[in-house]
Amino acid sequence: MVALAREARARARAPYSRFRVGAALKTRGGEIVTGCNIENASYGLSMCAERVAVFKAVSEGLSDFVAIAVVTGSGRPTPPCGPCRQILWELCGDIAVHMATVRGRSLTVRLSRLLPLPFDEKSL
Ligand code: THU
Repeated sequence: MVALAREARARARAPYSRFRVGAALKTRGGEIVTGCNIENASYGLSMCAERVAVFKAVSEGLSDFVAIAVVTGSGRPTPPCGPCRQILWELCGDIAVHMATVRGRSLTVRLSRLLPLPFDEKSL
């Protein structure tokens, strides 16, 4: 997964932040869907790698996700941003989140640790 996320990172379009991110989302059946961040001159329209991966996967009819890998060039493993945590929680549930750097540092936590006390359909 980390290798595929790293390949996806190479396709990132990040001319404004220069912060390239790759993601790889895995289903229980072993299918893997990747994503990269895609920025826009209208900055707020930019999309994170994690959401690109999950929206691609859901739009292809996939479900039952077990893990996501996120690769950045940062000095330390980078956790998903707040909006990505929310989307991942609602569409993937309590998956494993593998965070890795291109230099080989990594950290794995469950999403529930990154998003305690979530707002979701149970709240409605
Ligand atoms: N970014 C991601 O792709 N995933 C995250 O979880 C955090 C941020 C992207 C968005 C933007 O293109 C760049 O990283 C800098 O914030």
